[in-house]
Amino acid sequence: METKKIFLPEKEIPRQWYNIQADMPTPLQPPLNPATGKPVSPEDLLPIFPMNLIEQEMSTERWIDIPEEVLEKLITYRPTPLQRAYALERYLKTPAKIYYKNESVSPAGSHKPNTAIAQAYYNKVAGVKRLSTETGAGQWGCALSLACTLFGLECKVYMVKVSYEQKPYRQLMMKAWGAECVSSPSRDTNFGRKVLAEDPDCSGSLGIAISEAVEDAATSENTKYSLGSVLNHVMLHQTIIGLETQKQFEIVGDYPDVVIACVGGGSNFSGLSFPYIRDKIHGKDVQVIAVEPTACPTVTRGPFAYDYGDTAAKTPLLPMFTLGHNFLPKPIHAGGLRYHGMSPLVSRLILDNLVQPRAYNQLQTYKAGMIFAQTEGLICAPETNHAIAAAIDEAEKAREEGVAKTIVFCLSGHGLLDLAGYDAYLSGKLTDYSLPEEEMQKSLEAISSFPKPVV
Ligand SMILES: Cc1ncc(COP(=O)(O)O)c(C=O)c1O
Repeated sequence: METKKIFLPEKEIPRQWYNIQADMPTPLQPPLNPATGKPVSPEDLLPIFPMNLIEQEMSTERWIDIPEEVLEKLITYRPTPLQRAYALERYLKTPAKIYYKNESVSPAGSHKPNTAIAQAYYNKVAGVKRLSTETGAGQWGCALSLACTLFGLECKVYMVKVSYEQKPYRQLMMKAWGAECVSSPSRDTNFGRKVLAEDPDCSGSLGIAISEAVEDAATSENTKYSLGSVLNHVMLHQTIIGLETQKQFEIVGDYPDVVIACVGGGSNFSGLSFPYIRDKIHGKDVQVIAVEPTACPTVTRGPFAYDYGDTAAKTPLLPMFTLGHNFLPKPIHAGGLRYHGMSPLVSRLILDNLVQPRAYNQLQTYKAGMIFAQTEGLICAPETNHAIAAAIDEAEKAREEGVAKTIVFCLSGHGLLDLAGYDAYLSGKLTDYSLPEEEMQKSLEAISSFPKPVV
């Protein structure tokens, strides 16, 4: 019998996170305080984050210990299996070996609890009682709701309206974990009310939802804000994915030639790839691919610039690939990939040619998701289907070139609550969409006067 799942014993779970800032060839430029144009100080961030996470955000230590209390919760679903996609390989008639790191086995169904659990813990020890956040696809909102209930914190989630309507069961999951979930733009914040006054039918965006959650944290008692992607400490917490994967490949005596993940704000990608990029920096020949939708082509077409992380311009200015903080992506089904910016760490690694960005149209990603469902059996999140599309392309390329490559991708989440997207695809209602150049340039006008980072 072929070994299908490579398990890592619980006692082998990584005990430290990997901080790529210690190894990057080009250091990150600092986030800027928009009021002064100067680098943000830890105090600037205190209204929305606890000091222990701010320190982690700014740390350049290579290895950071995972607290015992965090490991105790992670161990309920980690280490996650590394699986071999034999049936997909046969279907594609490829000599390539295709592996996937299955993050869909977490209680929330995606990689997001890896950082939610860590963030809830650090907030709890800092004396915080309540967390506010945004969610796109609903995966992050579920993850934070789960983490808050595990650590006895209250949680309020602002869910992008288009997803709120497409995914009623995600709302119910959050409620089952004791959180409050509202549709964003909402009437609960000044910013939400302003957006609704201008456009009562606004379908929402991650940028708007972030603005609402940040306002909530800054104006409510004992409340901090929690972000599910983009920031350095989130990428750090996710590296447990790649660190486990490395140990699992050692068990089978293999090493990937190609590492693939989808990118929304960059967290599942960073999680799987950063330990491999470390190897690449030290001379290893490994190709690293980040996949996004053509409807929201942040890293394939956007400029590297200073921009706000949210639509209300409340966050510091981050040096990143961006489509402009006012950019409203079309309501495609991969809700978690509808974000105007990209993690500064991932952005820098793209600039330094350590990561290759790539974009796919919606129909191609669903086609790939269907092939995966009908070979491997798993119905994946629409975001994950972007990574699958790239893995299939790479496996087909290996077939044409006649080389037996090893490919690994991050199966960032299951799609069992994303079936509305599959329904639209199967009934022929989904269409491809590429962002028109004029629309992108118009959105970028908003940042033309901002300070420019060094490329
Ligand atoms: C299943 C899944 N994959 C990927 C993403 C993209 O986010 P990130 O780039 O932070 O991994 C999301 C975001 O919601 C998601 O739910």
